[in-house]
Amino acid sequence: MTYIEKARLRAAELIKRGSALILAVESSCDETAVAIVRDGRELLANEISSQIDIHALYGGVVPEIASRMHVEALSVLYERALEKAGISKTDIDAVAVTFGPGLVGALLTGVSFAKALAYGLDVPLVPVNHIEGHVSANFIAYPELEPPFVCLVASGGHSHIVNVTRYGSYELIGRTVDDAAGEAFDKVARVLDIPYPGGPLLDKLAETGDPEKYRFPSAHTPGRYDFSFSGLKTAVINQAHSIRQAGGTIDAADWAASFRKAVVDALLGKAFAAVRDTGAKRFALAGGVASNLLLRREAEKRAAREGVEVFIPPAKLCTDNAAMIGAAGFYRLMNGEIADLDLNAEPSVKLIEE
Ligand code: KG4
Ligand code: ZN
Repeated sequence: MTYIEKARLRAAELIKRGSALILAVESSCDETAVAIVRDGRELLANEISSQIDIHALYGGVVPEIASRMHVEALSVLYERALEKAGISKTDIDAVAVTFGPGLVGALLTGVSFAKALAYGLDVPLVPVNHIEGHVSANFIAYPELEPPFVCLVASGGHSHIVNVTRYGSYELIGRTVDDAAGEAFDKVARVLDIPYPGGPLLDKLAETGDPEKYRFPSAHTPGRYDFSFSGLKTAVINQAHSIRQAGGTIDAADWAASFRKAVVDALLGKAFAAVRDTGAKRFALAGGVASNLLLRREAEKRAAREGVEVFIPPAKLCTDNAAMIGAAGFYRLMNGEIADLDLNAEPSVKLIEE
């Protein structure tokens, strides 16, 4: 029997059982991660190795370095995850892996590792879209959460409002028409001399600033559910340069707070328009930007006002991790969506066709 024939038989057994212990791998950008997740909900191990310190030396992610560091970290994290979960490799029912979107070389390291493992153990290989992973972090944080719900996914490369209609089924409601929210945070942080990665540090600085001090253009667009961060970002950067060129200084904390407020207002203004129009009863946050302190506080407030239930995973599950890949992988596996050993990385794959 070939690998895929055996994997299909195993997958059929797991679907019948409705249960699976999944080892998940994530390597799409600058975090290497391995997690072990039972039935898409229960986290047995969540190992993450961040490369941020190295990339900070260069002011951003260097793809070649990222790939090399993933290769070094993967087997160490794998061993550690098994140990933390208290299981042996033969207990693993399936291997889930991020196949895109992300940096191609970085993705390939995880995909190759996952393939070798799935082949060696004769278990199904489940390809997972990274953005779907972010959404699925909510299933780990909230074991009782079930679709349908509206989710705002904001990361370094993506900003979407999606309607999660069923497990693995998404309708695109809105999106950024240019930069992603995280990208805007990182670029504005540079102007304030905040080191890479700018988003989290800008957020911390903003906590001490006055958000009403500076007025920036809105990040709203004519589209009812779309946002645009490019104009806001450019205006914020240009204004800082002009003030400095004229010999003035800017208060970095107030600047950060005013910019952060503009981004959060746009994200939540559009997301809650979607919640109202769809009549959704539940609203979730996902992606690295969902660890933003103001976004989290404001989402809670707005949800309470609108009478919808709100789901906000802990920061560790919002930024890149493999637990979320294990959660998404479980539902893909239950749908019988497994891959053969010719699975490739797809750096620009979309969650929903636009
Ligand atoms: O989801 P993620 O970890 O990786 C991608 O898939 O892109 O998101 C990373 C992005 C970065 O742009 C980072 O600056 C931003 O999320 N980010 C934040 C915060 N924490 C991470 N942005 C604003 N406030 C934060 N607290
Ligand atoms: Zn991500």
